[in-house]
Amino acid sequence: MILEVQDLYTSYGLSQILFGISITVDEGECVSLLGRNGVGKTTTLRSIMGLTPPRRGTVRFRGQDITGQPAYRIARLGVGFVPEERRIFPDLSVRENLEVGRKAAATSHATEWTVEQVYDIFPVLANLNDRKGGYLSGGEQQMLTVGRTLMGNPDLILLDEPSEGLAPLVVRDLSEQIQRLKESGITILLCEQNAKFAIALSDRAYVLEKGQVRFSGTIEDLQGNDEIRQQYLAL
Ligand SMILES: Nc1ncnc2c1ncn2[C@@H]1O[C@H](COP(=O)(O)OP(=O)(O)OP(=O)(O)O)[C@@H](O)[C@H]1O
Ligand SMILES: [Mg+2]
Repeated sequence: MILEVQDLYTSYGLSQILFGISITVDEGECVSLLGRNGVGKTTTLRSIMGLTPPRRGTVRFRGQDITGQPAYRIARLGVGFVPEERRIFPDLSVRENLEVGRKAAATSHATEWTVEQVYDIFPVLANLNDRKGGYLSGGEQQMLTVGRTLMGNPDLILLDEPSEGLAPLVVRDLSEQIQRLKESGITILLCEQNAKFAIALSDRAYVLEKGQVRFSGTIEDLQGNDEIRQQYLAL
């Protein structure tokens, strides 16, 4: 087990958002966290990453308790976070944006990513090598954000709504690219409102509602569960 989240309670000030979230992710898996907007998906990722430390509960990465540690330290251990808002550097070229993400591999398990390997996953970016980040389309920026996180050689990558705001054709490309990423051996925890997109990529899923897990199981279980799909996923 690479990630073990146990009974997480997180709040922003007085407003309590997570009420006992428990999830696990095994090495090499792609696991999705599904649910409508505002159910606590981003808050769960932020709690894992130490950006919004939980009030209660534990987060273990490779067995080590990392609960509430500063995000930079968690990143150094091998967790990459791709936030919802794509924070690329508008004045740097695509290659420079990727170089900025470079950092030594945390463990012997991690691949040492090069810019060229990132371009193998996202061929579109290779053609945009010299283009300034600020001139990229939304889909290209999303690919660049994921690519930059890969340059930090994570073992586990937390992806927050990568498909958000992208045209259907771009989402299809992104799906193929994330599939390739998965085949490279990286472990993925994927948050999505777009359940169809996430289900196609995932081995297992958790469905959240009001800060609690309402379903957990394999993708086959989820597809066979009409009630959960209709009630929480609008599928
Ligand atoms: N910084 C904040 N301060 C106060 N409340 C917040 C803050 N960030 C999020 N919230 C609230 O926490 C709840 C859960 O938000 P969260 O962003 O985790 O949901 P989400 O499942 O990621 O939604 P979406 O699919 O829209 O991204 C929402 O009600 C939101 O309004
Ligand atoms: Mg969110």
